[in-house]
Amino acid sequence: MKNKILRIALMVSGRGSNMQVIIENIKKKKIPGAEVCLVVSDQIRAEALITAKEYGISAQYIDPGPFKTKFDEAGENRYIRALQDARTDLICLAGFMRMIKSRLLAAFKGRIINIHPSLLPAFPGLHAQRQALSAQAGCSGCTVHFIDAGMDTGKIIGQTRVPVLPGDTESSLSKRILEQEHILYSRVIAQICSGEITFPEK
Ligand code: GRF
Repeated sequence: MKNKILRIALMVSGRGSNMQVIIENIKKKKIPGAEVCLVVSDQIRAEALITAKEYGISAQYIDPGPFKTKFDEAGENRYIRALQDARTDLICLAGFMRMIKSRLLAAFKGRIINIHPSLLPAFPGLHAQRQALSAQAGCSGCTVHFIDAGMDTGKIIGQTRVPVLPGDTESSLSKRILEQEHILYSRVIAQICSGEITFPEK
């Protein structure tokens, strides 16, 4: 990736705090060699879309189809087209609440990463922080990983540990993990830009 500006598309569904930190860090040159070429959301009212537009970034809702947690074929094709039209090099899922499978995965093979609020492989899927508390884990954290066809199973490329403290609630633990997500995600993207982390073989 060296010497080339990495064009990043961010896929979001809600609040967009990870997205915002990435945009800010690119703006402040803390992630050198990257630009955000597109923000796409599967939720028409995602706060993240408003935030991205405030930064002057091209941001759009794209209809994913009728299902709640996956794309239908036409919806998936709409995403692929928009991402290809934006000449996307890297897709960063940032709170995107939908499984990425088959065609989209194939169109951007090895070029989709995600952040997850646990130390994978522990606590994949929804409510990772709640899972950590129920399991009485002494430690949780966050993970950045490449996306494959499984649920949070792709190759891990960055992790930060966050202790679970006595008296922690889902909300307090989520907040402390989120602070670390914000640091970790930008660090991993910067390592991709510098060539320190390489894309898996196609
Ligand atoms: C984060 O905790 C992320 O790990 C998970 O969804 C949350 C998104 O938060 N996948 P935000 O939209 O980035 O604020």
